[in-house]
Amino acid sequence: MTKTPPSIIALDGPAASGKSTVGRRLANALGYLFFDTGIMYRAVTWIALNRDMNLRDEEAITQMAQSAQIDVRPPTQADGRAFDVIIGEKDVTWEVRSGDVDANVSLVSAYAGVRKALSEKQRRIGLRGRVVMVGRDIGTVVLPEADLKVYMDASAEERARRRYDEIIERGEKADYEEIFNTMIERDRLDSTRAVAPLKPADDAIFINTDELSENQVYERVLAMCAP
Ligand code: CDP
Repeated sequence: MTKTPPSIIALDGPAASGKSTVGRRLANALGYLFFDTGIMYRAVTWIALNRDMNLRDEEAITQMAQSAQIDVRPPTQADGRAFDVIIGEKDVTWEVRSGDVDANVSLVSAYAGVRKALSEKQRRIGLRGRVVMVGRDIGTVVLPEADLKVYMDASAEERARRRYDEIIERGEKADYEEIFNTMIERDRLDSTRAVAPLKPADDAIFINTDELSENQVYERVLAMCAP
């Protein structure tokens, strides 16, 4: 670690590994910006679905990603959201978390041009420092110079159960089997893609969260930031 407390913090891991929850709390405690990069890939996927685009048309999707206006703003509603996600004038905060987006986001996020467009923005913001950035490739590609890199993981069953609970808590309908299967497929695509696959950076600290509560994980990561 080059700085105490670390200024650039990278949290990576597969779907529902707990990185967003921990990242959000950590950023709050440190007074840092919380940046959830998954939102950007989800937003591009949402736009493509909304416009009825052919998701296999890499060129068209890439062009759209380059010009997409995705606004992530402080939350205006106390419904569990960490921020508002606005596309055009529309609040799509929960829509970008729909099953439809879940099922298609890994196809879109595997496109090299899409990754380039989004990760350049992420890198510019991350380099300002005092940031907790959460994603799949933050420690490996977006911010390899991060002062602290944490890679979080848990069994697929545990992660699917957490995602199921989250959705039920929002008052929406959820099907455990479907969540489990979509998640496994998303992880498979994310970790086998050619560009910036999901994997721990060589210098990342690994945390298996299977047997840990959200609070225990948070305390562990916070301790890594203590002066
Ligand atoms: O919340 P959850 O962990 O389920 O997903 P997310 O972090 O919102 O990411 C959604 C999808 O975006 C992932 O499955 C990846 O396909 C993609 N993603 C990525 O490729 N690179 C990132 N840095 C973040 C997300």
